Formats: sequence, structure tokens, C-alpha cells
Amino acid sequence: MNMEEYKDLIQVPLGRVHADKVINNARIINTYTGKVQSGLKVAIKGSRIAYVGTSDSMVGEETEVIDATGMFLAPGYIDPHGHTDFGANPITLVNEILPRGTTAIMTDTKSLTAALGVTGIQALLDMTEQLPLKFFYAVTAANPIFPHLEGEESLSMEEYTRFINHPRVLAVGELVSWVRAIDLDETVLSKLNLARRLNKRIEGHGAGCSPETLNALINVGITSCHESITPEEIQHRINLGIHAMLRHGSIRSDLEALSRVITMDPELDTRWMMLTPDCFSPGDILTHGYMVFLVEEAIRCGVPPVKAIQMATINPAQYLGIDRVVGGIGPSRYADILFLEHPSLPAPVKVMVNGEIVAENGKLIQHSQLNCPRFHPGNWRSGRVPSFKAAVTEHFLVKAVAADGEYEQVPVIKIVNRTITKLDYVKLPVKSGELIINDEDILKISMLHINRDRFATAFMKGYGASIGGLATSTAHDHHTPFVIGNNEDDMALAFNRMMEIGGGLVLVDGGQIKGECPMVIGGIMSNRDMGSLNRELKVIEQYLMERGCKSGPLITLDFLAHTGVPFIRITPSGLYDVRSKEILFS
Ligand SMILES: [Fe+2]
Repeated sequence: MNMEEYKDLIQVPLGRVHADKVINNARIINTYTGKVQSGLKVAIKGSRIAYVGTSDSMVGEETEVIDATGMFLAPGYIDPHGHTDFGANPITLVNEILPRGTTAIMTDTKSLTAALGVTGIQALLDMTEQLPLKFFYAVTAANPIFPHLEGEESLSMEEYTRFINHPRVLAVGELVSWVRAIDLDETVLSKLNLARRLNKRIEGHGAGCSPETLNALINVGITSCHESITPEEIQHRINLGIHAMLRHGSIRSDLEALSRVITMDPELDTRWMMLTPDCFSPGDILTHGYMVFLVEEAIRCGVPPVKAIQMATINPAQYLGIDRVVGGIGPSRYADILFLEHPSLPAPVKVMVNGEIVAENGKLIQHSQLNCPRFHPGNWRSGRVPSFKAAVTEHFLVKAVAADGEYEQVPVIKIVNRTITKLDYVKLPVKSGELIINDEDILKISMLHINRDRFATAFMKGYGASIGGLATSTAHDHHTPFVIGNNEDDMALAFNRMMEIGGGLVLVDGGQIKGECPMVIGGIMSNRDMGSLNRELKVIEQYLMERGCKSGPLITLDFLAHTGVPFIRITPSGLYDVRSKEILFS
């Protein structure tokens, strides 16, 4: 806000300067008190709310009067913990979710940082600077989780310091590598301590933590956790004085269970609770909207509507320290206002952002133009780019120890569900000195080696689909490219095509490309609109489902390299047991 706007804002309530707009006859969902108020006017000057009260003194001839008879006004919805730095780009995201009421997101940047380094964060800051949806960011203090196995730290202390001081950076991104913090890794603790001194939030990731570990992590500095899967875990986090997020998105959707913490105890103070999807796939965004879906689901689960709205507005705003500008309908706040038919119907009829009506009946009045930067493999962080020109069949052969005709037992990733894996063993025959796949349920999994000159290859089972080659550069958390499949020629073709199109996903079967989804922004983000992106992903997903994958084959793929979740993962150094901290096969 410049000085003129600042002065005008002060003068409007006093009747010395006329408002640009006044909303009359609405009922206001007061997120500060949890009550609904009638008989108040909301006066707007520029992008801000200047006045809430009963006076007409700020209405002049040039003031636009908006009659909101029968409507309820709520502040725009805020996601306190997004992961919108991969998949859909922020511009298409705005076009899809703003008309359905999400007006602010605090999102992690660890993925685009792992993909592109500081260029990634800067690209996000630049892309979202002028967008109507307010983007705030978190920067990573510890990624990858195991640098000695997975590649160098995404951000140096100098780089981290530069970004943690940025005014739109509100937090340190989720501390998946909390083990590094409680094992007193000096690099990580120095970064977190700087965030503490700057009073930035630190996003926790206390999945399955014991009470003792959780206490230690709060001493580390975490201010929230979004990994609760039971009402008791929500209660425990609040008891210890950190904010608890009730997660409901594409990876996990736990509102049904988590909301019982509120419905079983109506007296419970809900100010320390927030709603977040954590992550939504493009398909789920198109189907469900974004935060509106969580508010609807919370209400369906029995959370009183105004409390559900508070958990998506003022609670995240206060948690993030941005309640002076968003989260409620009060003077000085941005005029980000939703017009609802009723508090129990959270889908807005109209959406106002920065004092302008930007959407009606779920449709945007003016779309933001897609103009995304491209970051092809030449721009990627070096650990993600092979030093060889192209993958060849021989890259994916696995030398046997046993003699030809014998069998060799090898450890494998056994897929349990979308995110969890466990250790299993299979016996594979040896032919021409190589281990051969002899079962439709077994696939090879080959990740670009930490030295970049070859692949670290292991085996997996339980994926469901028996396919030639599926290459990806999108998988969490360090986004090192890998390929799964049972045919080395197809694996090589899939990998090479994936690199050729600038990263993303390529599915090859029987020597033919069956589907591809380019992610030309660092190999992890599409520059296309949400509908096109979703269609490209669906072609691949459908092929995999028709060949036996159960649910979420691409989410499952994305988690095969995520060493932040149990138990067996592929890393650039080989097959890894995250619990015993051992490389099992390489
Ligand atoms: Fe998260």
C-alpha cells in the first residue's frame, strides 16, 4: 500500500474520503467472534476494506453500492499448507480455484527448489507476484532427507538466508527430515534457528512421532503439524501448543476421523485447528475446487459451519501471522470476500478479490494468461541430469552373483498402498549372467545414480501393472529421474523420451509410447492449463489401471523415492531401508 492509499484508508471511515464500493444488506460471518452479524455495511477503498459499521457517511456519488440482500459474506479461504510447487502451475491453479473461493495459499517450495535450486523459488515468486490469488511461501531447511545418498543440499545457508528474509516467505517448509534436526545436524539447526529469530513458522511433519519425539521437535521449533491421522493426535498437538492441521486431499483424506475431535467435544477451542489438502492432484482440483471442498466436508462431518469457515480463514491467517491483511472482514484487510447463500453452503456465488468481483457462479470473469517460464534439463540441478547422452538397454541389466540356471534371492520394494512400502524378497533366475524377471508382478526400478553416469537398479513388486517402461522426473522428494518396467528397451526409450520432452512422465509398452505428460518447468511442473494437464495424466493412469494398478498409480509412483515415509525406497545410491538406514541393493 502506498502512502496515498494508506491515507485514503484512514479517511474513509471518518467520511472525509468516499469509498469506492459499499456492500449493503449482507450478513457478515464474523470469523473473529464466530458469530453472524446483520445490519452492517462494508466499505471498500482500493483493494482494502476501509470500514465495517452502520454509517453511510462514506457513500458518495461515485461510490458503487452493491446490494447483497440474502447473502452472507465470508472472507476468502486460505490454505495454510499447500504443495503447489509441482504439477499444475500457479497460473492455471488460480484460474481453477479462485472462482471457488480460495484466495490465499501458503505453499512449500521444496520440490521446485530440489528441481531447480534458487531459480525454482525465484520463478515461483515472479510467476505469482501479480496474480489475484495471494501466494505466500515456505522455504526448505533440509532437503534431501539423506544428502549423502540422495544428492547435495537444495539450498546453501546463504541461499536459504536470502529467501527466508523475503516478505512473502512466511515459514520453513515441512520438516520431513526431522531426524536430521533431532540428531543435531548443525546445518539444519542453524537454518531453523534463523527462522525462529525471524519469527517465521516452521512446518512440522510428525507422522507417527512418539510423544517424546514430538516434544523434541517442538523444541526444535516446529509450530504446526499436518500429519495427524487420528483425533487423539490432533488433540495431543494442541495440548502441546502447536497448531494442528486437519488434512483432506489427494494423498490422504482423513477429515471423517479427524473432525471427531471437534464433534465429540463441542466445548473444544478450535482456534488452533486448520484445514489443508496438503496436496491436490489436478483431477481432484477440477472435481472438488480446493479449500471449499474441505469446508464442505468438515460441515458434512458435523463441524458447525462457522467453525469450519474459521478453520479455513482466520485460523490459518493467525497461524501464519497475516491476519492483519486476510482471514476476516474487518478494516485494513484486503477486500477478499465471498458471497455465500448460507454459512452451510461454502461454495461462493460471487468472489471479490482486492475489491473487485472476479468470479460469479464458479466462473472467473477474467482468466489470468498462461505465460510460464520453461526450465528444460539444461537448467535442472546437476544431480538430476545424466552425464551420458542417452540411456541404453545395457543400463538396466542387473549382474547376477549366482551362475546361469540358478536362482538368486534379492530384496525388493513391496508396495503396500499409495505411500507405504515394505521389505520383501523374491527369487530371480540367472541367465547370461543377468537377473531375469520371471513374474508379471515384478518390475525393475532404475534411478539415475548419484554419480550420474549409470542407474541404480533394483526390483519392486505389487505395483499391479506389468508394463515395459514408465519414466518420471516428478517423484518426491529430490525429483531424481527414474524408470520402472520389465523391458529394458522400453525403459531406455521411456527415459530418453522423458528427457527429450523436458521432463515429466512417459509410458512405453511394447516398444510404443502409450502416453506422455511434459513438465517443462524443471521436469516437475506443467506449463499447460489444468484441463490439458489432467487429460495427459489420465491417459497414463487409465492405461496403468486397465493393466492392473489398483488406485492412484501415479501417486504411488511419486512416492517410490520418498525416503520420508516408511519403509523401502529407491535412492540414487540404491534400494534403501529408511528404518535401518541401510542400502539393501545397488
Ligand atoms: Fe505437506
